[in-house]
Order: sequence, then C-alpha cells, then structure tokens
Amino acid sequence: MRTAKLGDLEVGRIGLGTMGMSHGYTGAGSDDAESIRTIHRAIDLGVTLIDTAEVYGPFVNEELVGKALAGRRDQVVLATKFGLVSHTGAGNADSSPDNIRTAVEGSLRRLGTDHIDLYYQHRVDPKTPIEDTMGVLAELVQQGKVRHIGLSEAWIDTVRRAHAVHPVTALQSEFSLWTRDQEEMLPVLRELGIGLVAYSPLGRGFLTGALRSVADLDALDDSDFRKNNPRFTGENFERNLRLVDGVRAVADQAGATVGQVALAWLLAQGDDIVPIPGTKRVSRVEENVGADAVELTPEQVATLTALPAPEGGHHTEDQMQLIER
Ligand SMILES: NC(=O)c1ccc[n+]([C@@H]2O[C@H](COP(=O)([O-])OP(=O)(O)OC[C@H]3O[C@@H](n4cnc5c(N)ncnc54)[C@H](OP(=O)(O)O)[C@@H]3O)[C@@H](O)[C@H]2O)c1
Repeated sequence: MRTAKLGDLEVGRIGLGTMGMSHGYTGAGSDDAESIRTIHRAIDLGVTLIDTAEVYGPFVNEELVGKALAGRRDQVVLATKFGLVSHTGAGNADSSPDNIRTAVEGSLRRLGTDHIDLYYQHRVDPKTPIEDTMGVLAELVQQGKVRHIGLSEAWIDTVRRAHAVHPVTALQSEFSLWTRDQEEMLPVLRELGIGLVAYSPLGRGFLTGALRSVADLDALDDSDFRKNNPRFTGENFERNLRLVDGVRAVADQAGATVGQVALAWLLAQGDDIVPIPGTKRVSRVEENVGADAVELTPEQVATLTALPAPEGGHHTEDQMQLIER
C-alpha cells in the first residue's frame, strides 16, 4: 500500500477503525474472533494505522485491539483517544490534566503496550483550556508514553492554540463525500503541517450502498447509532439514496465498488489525508484496502465533488454540542 504523511508520521494511506467491533454499530457481543482476524488481515495488506478509543465500549475495544496486536505491536501505528470518559467525576468531556494522567495508564494497560503512537483528545473540553491539555500531553511525550499528539473535531482556533504549545500530528474529524466541512480546515492544517485522519469515511456504511431501505436499518440492533442519526431517518434516508446512486455511476465506470470509490475520492484530496474505514469483517477490509489501487480520473473526482449535499446533519443535536465549529 502507498503511504501518507501525518505531520512527520508515515502510515499506510488507508487505516482501520475498530470502533464498530465493540461499539456503535453492533450491540454487545459481536464476533471478536472475526474482528481479530480482520485486524490481522488489515496488517497483512499494509494497513499500519489502527484506531481505537477509551470510550469505545468503554474499554473493551482497547482490550480487543490489545489482544489482536499481541506479537504484532511493532507492525502498527497504534492510535487511541482520551477525554470522553471522566475518571475525575467531571462528567462528559474531561481533558483535565488529572483525567489524562489516569486515562493514559488504563489505555496502555488494555492495549498491552508501553507507548501509544498517536494519542488524541477525543473532543475539546470547554472547561479545560487547550493549553493545559497540551501541557500534560507534552509531558507524556517526554516520558515516552506517547509518541505523537492528535485532536478530534477541534476547530481552527483550538488547533492553532494547541499547535503553539506542542506540535499536533493529526486532526481526526469526520470527512467524506457527504461531510465536507473539513475542506475549510484543510488549508490551516496544511499551513501548520498537520495531517487529517478522516473518520466515518464510508458515511457509517451508507456510502457503500449496502443499506438500501429503511427496512435494512430496522433490522439493525436498537443500540446502533445510526437509528438516531439524522441522515438515516425517514425521508432523509430515502433522499440520500440519490447520492449513493451518483457514487455508483462512477464506480461502474471505474470498475470498483461503491465504497472503494468513496475512499478513492478522499485519497484524491491529498497525501496528507488518511481515511480509517471501520469494519469487523475480513472480506470488507480486503475490499476497503482495495481502494488504494483505484485511480479516479480528474473528471470522475469532479463528478463526485459535485454530488448534491445530503439531507440531515452528520450527528444528532446532542452530539453536535461537543463538536467545535
Ligand atoms: N474521532 C471520532 O469522534 C470518531 C467518530 C466515529 C468514528 N471514529 C473512528 O473512525 C472509524 C471509522 O468510522 P465509522 O466506523 O464510524 O464509519 P465508516 O467507516 O464510514 O463505516 C463503518 C460501517 O460501514 C460498514 N462497512 C465497512 N466497510 C464496508 C464495505 N466494504 N461494504 C459495506 N459496508 C461496509 C461497517 O459494517 P461492518 O463492520 O459490519 O463491516 C460499519 O457499519 C471508527 O471505527 C472509529 O475508529 C472516530
């Protein structure tokens, strides 16, 4: 697989998100054995960036990733996140220095490692100045527990303030054919030399064409996030299918799958952008990594860029409270 640069960190240009193996899209009790095979297959195919977080589960996704990486730790760039579990009783977003010092020890233990390659603040904590958060993260770098620092869903002012305290290697935010606001952020990231890790690059599965009707959604577990996501509900779901039809038309031309084209469009935006599609199945990680070989023509990229905006916000109103814009 070709590589990409996140700041000074080189990674395979398609990563793997492991959230859905234990959180968000599954309900409890998905198939851990298949999830572990999926992580191993990803590594064999050249994926290096493996993405988890303390809050996924909470905790059990990091444990699963730790188990999968036993004996393979050196082959990956391991990323996790703190700040959405409070160990101090502060509630909700907690990036206070005390919370980070506790969180990092738990993540290291569950992941079975002595260092985290890329440690992200999961959401900006309005109660803690970003300078205080970055100060304690810089200490963790000095101690060797963390190699690189990232932010997630932070907006321009916070990114600049954070980077002034210690270099930020990557911003992880939602970016895909149907969530485009990072286009405004990209010039700032490029000015500062920060990479962009694109989460939910397949639009939570919608941009693969796998979900064709509200009935497909009804069949999902009640704990599945998508049941409340504005883009998946009622009329919005039906209208958004037109967008997928547009991707499918390009996919047919390119001889690729719908999901591969959604990923190839992101890769075409620059070699400082790394999508981390999530799957818990070997067959799908093979398909997703196949996007590395899909070359879109400039006309195809332009057609995709010109697709209509989706109906509905990319998060619920509650979740948007923690997303800086
Ligand atoms: N920083 C943040 O706040 C944040 C937020 C959300 C996610 N993330 C990270 O980003 C990663 C990816 O995002 P995401 O999981 O939300 O969304 P995504 O990658 O856009 O989509 C994942 C969904 O698509 C399905 N899927 C994957 N490949 C497929 C294929 N080839 N064909 C059909 N369906 C396919 C998966 O189902 P199966 O698993 O059943 O294959 C899963 O339901 C997460 O795992 C997590 O690590 C970070």
